[in-house]
This record gives sequence, structure tokens and C-alpha cells, in this order.
Amino acid sequence: MQKLKIHGGYPLKGDVRISGAKNAALPILAASLLTAEPLVLSNVPQLNDIGTMLKLLTEMGVTTERSPEAATLQANNLTSLVASYDLVKTMRASILVLGPLVARFGEARVSLPGGCAIGARPVDLHIKGLEAMGATISIEAGYIHAKATKLKGARIFMDTVTVTGTENLLMAACLADGITTLENAACEPEVVDLAECLIKMGAHIRGHGTDVITVEGVSTLHGASHSVMPDRIETGTFLAAVAAMGTIGGDVRITHAQPRSLDAVIEKLRGAGVKIAFTVDEIHVSMHQRSSAINLRTAPYPAFPTDMQAQFIALNCIANGTSVITETIFENRFMHVQELVRLGAKIDIDGNTAIVHGVDKLTGTSVMATDLRASACLVIAGLVAEGETLIDRIYHLDRGYDHIEQKLTALGAKIERVNE
Ligand code: EPZ
Repeated sequence: MQKLKIHGGYPLKGDVRISGAKNAALPILAASLLTAEPLVLSNVPQLNDIGTMLKLLTEMGVTTERSPEAATLQANNLTSLVASYDLVKTMRASILVLGPLVARFGEARVSLPGGCAIGARPVDLHIKGLEAMGATISIEAGYIHAKATKLKGARIFMDTVTVTGTENLLMAACLADGITTLENAACEPEVVDLAECLIKMGAHIRGHGTDVITVEGVSTLHGASHSVMPDRIETGTFLAAVAAMGTIGGDVRITHAQPRSLDAVIEKLRGAGVKIAFTVDEIHVSMHQRSSAINLRTAPYPAFPTDMQAQFIALNCIANGTSVITETIFENRFMHVQELVRLGAKIDIDGNTAIVHGVDKLTGTSVMATDLRASACLVIAGLVAEGETLIDRIYHLDRGYDHIEQKLTALGAKIERVNE
């Protein structure tokens, strides 16, 4: 089992390049199923989740070519319309093949993704939306079996904002007969990036980035080339890491980023006393004082992202003052809290709210990652803790961060991967 060993207390200085966005690349890879022509992607991050999606598509018969930051996919000779449990259970985003398969091939069998550490994660809205477009769907032995002679455009209202639900239905609507409107749609930048890629493939989409997306279905889509947007959560994670350095010091230039997708995060960091300046694709972040405690409440974009909640709890652990953090998206996304308490943090949990009492220092010890963003939170805590922190189960981290220890080492952190 691999672990990360971190010696805390070293300043972060230098440049870091942001990789492509995991949560944009995953739906865009699935969009390759919508056409028989090649989809040529660049700025694809090197992450385990990307590998899992490529494996899933390859198992279906999609031809895939992968180089370090590019991928070419072509679904011109599919051999299977099944997304098997053994892959879906390792990555819930596999559900994103459902909409494209039903839309183009009229059938799909996709394993119901189980729950996960952070919540039940139902997919009822994905299913309801496809049924509204005319699909007949049954649940058979843990699989979603969807069939449709031809999807029809429909008015679909999603009573909860769902990112992958919006993405699944957006992709399905591109090949449906007629007009589809997705109401209460997710506005996340990753949804916009998917829509931009679909438009390059010939889709007729309006309103992406707002809560009402309108799609006029077309009979076929063609191939395209697309560069995946920068990962705003990786960017936010580095911003939070520099902020957490406090008097240890941080002065970092973040390149190949998309600052405009991080307004809520940047505003909170400035409120904590962090110095941030940015251009269209670069952010300069510096910190040389103890941060002030920041209250926050997660909510769908453009509000504060739930995927940055754990990282900000780590920042608040050593901030000056007490902060209140409310998680409104997932029902069990505070598992990093008990691990932070092991490092000396003072945090009380009351339902979906964490009250963080800032302490002067954290002390390194052994901790365990429980999910992707929790592991990033523990890395940040380890960078500022006195002594050595050993983080177990870092396979969670590898799902969503591209060479994070190399990037942090280049900034001066003392962090290494060890086999225990
Ligand atoms: C996406 O997950 C992201 N994953 C998550 O990032 C992110 O945390 C989440 O959106 C929220 O921003 C990808 O894009 C691959 P949701 P998703 O459907 O789409 C409820 C990370 O760390 N819901 O927007 O699965 C659901 O229970 C990951 O990179 C239903 O009730 O999340 C939740 O409470 C973690 N029925 C809320 O909606 C449904 O059919 C938002 O979930 C679907 C969702």
C-alpha cells in the first residue's frame, strides 16, 4: 500500500502548471460515443479516473489512443452496450455513458453506481430525464436497462441541481428528435466545456452555463478536436495550500488556469487575507501571515464548490478565529474532520455544519484518506503540520490529482510517495 510522507513547515515558492479538468474530461470522453468519427482531445489529465473511463469505453469497442496529455477516441465499431459493475463501482462517473448509448444506439445496460463515501449519490434524475425523452428503463439485477427506438425532445425539470445528470441528458438530447429544455440545469464550468465540445461536433445547444439549457436535436454528430478546460478544483487546491502556509510563507504562480471559474473561492481567500492577482490564465497567490477564519456554505455553481470544502476546512484549522462551514450538497462529506482532529485540529460537527476553532499549530502523525478531496485536505494539513505526516490510502488522491507530489516538490514541499 502506497502512502505519502510529508515533512511540514517548508514554504511554497515557484510556478505550478494546472492540468486538464477531471470533471470536464470525463463527460467529454463519454461524448465520443455520440459519433462514428474521431474525437481528438488535448489537455487530458493523467489521472486514474481518466484511465478507468478509457478502459470502460475500450471494453465497449471504442478505439482509443492515449499520449501523455492527449486522447483520440472513435466509436465506429462498438461491440458492447454494457458498462459493467466491476468498472462502474470504481468510478461513479461511468454513468455518463448511459445518455450517449441510448441516444445513438437505442439501448444501454449500465450498472447502478453504488453509494460512495460522501453520500448515497442516487441517479434517479438521470433516469427520469431519459424516460421523459421516451426511453423505457428497468432496473434488472443492479443494472439500469434503457431502451428507446428514438429519443424525443422534452421539457425536463430537475428538482435537484445535478452536474452529471445535466451532462447525461444534455448529451442524450443532442441526438433526440426535436427540442429539449433542461430546467434547473447545472451551471458548472465543466458542463459548459462539455457543451462547447458538443457544439464543435455539430450539436445545437443554447443556454449552457445558465440554469435553462435548450437543445435542438440533430440526426448525427461529427468528429471534432477539443482542449479540455483547466481543472478549477486542482487550482483551488493549490490556492488553499498556499493560503494555509501562513507565516511559513507561500508565493506561487499558477499557470494554464482559468481564474474566472473560481470567483467564489478567490473571494473567500481574499477575505482570509490571501494576496491574489490574476490574468486570463494565470494566478499569482502569496501569503505571509496567519489566515483569518472564513465561514462558507457550499452550493451549486457559481456559489462555493463542495469539492473545495475539505481543503478550506484544513485552511481554517490553523486560521485565526472560529469558522462555520456548511455542506449542503452531500450528506456525509466531513470524514476528513476526524483525521484532522488526529493532527490536533479542534472541530465540532453539528449535522451538516462544521465549527472549526483555529489552533496555533498542527502536529504530524499517521492519517487515512477517505475520499478524493479529503485526501487533498490531508496533504494541505501535512504541509503545515510540525513534523512528519503519513497519509494512507492515497489511491483516493490519484483518482483526481495529476502528479500532485511532483508539483508540490517543485514548489519546495518535502513530500514523497513511500511503499509501506
Ligand atoms: C459531480 O458529481 C462531480 N463529479 C463531483 O465531484 C461534485 O462534487 C458534484 O458534481 C457536485 O458539484 C463529476 O463531475 C464526475 P450531483 P455528481 O449529481 O454529478 C443529488 C470530485 O471530487 N442527486 O451534482 O455525481 C446528489 O445526491 C467529485 O471530483 C440526486 O438526488 O453530483 C447530490 O446531493 C465528487 N439525484 C446532489 O444531487 C440524481 O439523479 C448533487 O449531485 C443526481 C444527483
